[in-house]
Amino acid sequence: MKKIIITGGAGFIGSHVVRRFVNTYPDYQIINLDKLTYAGNLMNLKDIEQRPNYRFVKGDIVDAVFIDELFSTEQPDAVIHLAAESHVDRSISNPTEFVMTNVLGTVNLLNAARKHWTGRYEQTRFYHVSTDEVYGALAMDSGMFTETTAYDPHSPYSASKASSDHFVRAYHDTYGIDAVISNCSNNYGSHHFPEKLIPLAIHNIKNNKSIPVYGKGENIRDWLWVEDHARAIDVIFHQAKAGSTYNIGGHNEWKNIDLIHLLCQIMDRKLGRAEGESAKLITYVTDRAGHDLRYAIDASKLKNELGWEPSLQFEEGLEKTVDWYLNNEEWLNEVTSGHYQAYYQEQYAKR
Ligand code: NAD
Ligand code: TYD
Repeated sequence: MKKIIITGGAGFIGSHVVRRFVNTYPDYQIINLDKLTYAGNLMNLKDIEQRPNYRFVKGDIVDAVFIDELFSTEQPDAVIHLAAESHVDRSISNPTEFVMTNVLGTVNLLNAARKHWTGRYEQTRFYHVSTDEVYGALAMDSGMFTETTAYDPHSPYSASKASSDHFVRAYHDTYGIDAVISNCSNNYGSHHFPEKLIPLAIHNIKNNKSIPVYGKGENIRDWLWVEDHARAIDVIFHQAKAGSTYNIGGHNEWKNIDLIHLLCQIMDRKLGRAEGESAKLITYVTDRAGHDLRYAIDASKLKNELGWEPSLQFEEGLEKTVDWYLNNEEWLNEVTSGHYQAYYQEQYAKR
């Protein structure tokens, strides 16, 4: 029986990874380790919280003593590490928090893995989930990021993720830990906290609020459906060689403004509004400082070596995503009010 600690499992991508592993591998024990920051919400996992192969542990990866004790008591066989501060705008206003969680938190987990897995590295695995933002920004027509593109992070967020990637590789190279890393492009889908572009725009369109578009809206992102990311993590976790890195992406580049127009069209149709009505909410605002122009992922290594490909066309995925938000108004109200999260914080504080 395999015991896996998934960190950040109450967040957007983490909750999809936890759900996938709990449902697909009933003989694994899945421990979701999460601090429940503003971005983490156990409501994301209501459908699987009673499963016998699932458990939640509230904790902070920045707390080295706690992490060491957790490894001692649980003796996990693997870690899939997603816990992070993940929003670029927040990293611009509060970079230190990103260093603490993303860098120090990762090093704490690596130290615990090193200590508790010595002598059985080949039966264990440390899977670090990272981002394409570590590679920096591409010019409009200058190819794609590959696994050998040099790191060139620009935001405090991407700098902290780049740093954590370096530590993971260093622990593999220096101590022999079985570590793998994947660097993924922008995700979209259900349970995405409404501070990121797509859920924020859906939320605002629905409520007739302005849609803030940074700069001229010409920045390009490569969007991947979150469940395809979770499937890629599953494939890499089970099949990748120790020390390897894979890029994950949707081959799906969109200028922000084009994406917002597509979203407005879908929302007009879903909400029974006249065509062009939602687009009137588009508001150009001051650009993000150091705003990366373009991200694009070459995921051919993952396709050629492990057979993974995205399953959904963007238009279909976006439509599904809009439907999910429109059908889950309660989720949106709860995560924006923080009510449900406060309830859980209180329950766990009592223990
Ligand atoms: P998220 O912000 O939605 O969730 C992060 C989770 O980590 C939350 O549940 C939060 O409570 C938890 N967390 C934060 N600090 C913690 C701490 N100190 N201790 C324990 N738990 C803590 O993030 P996400 O968008 O789901 O991203 C998950 C991972 O995937 C991150 O490592 C991110 O860098 C990476 N990633 C994200 C994207 C994307 O498009 N969102 C793309 C590529 C890679
Ligand atoms: P975001 O969802 O924050 O992801 P990331 O910065 O990690 O790529 O932003 C996606 C793109 O949308 C990015 O180019 C910034 C832009 N953006 C806006 O134009 N307006 C917004 O309100 C937000 C949150 C993002």
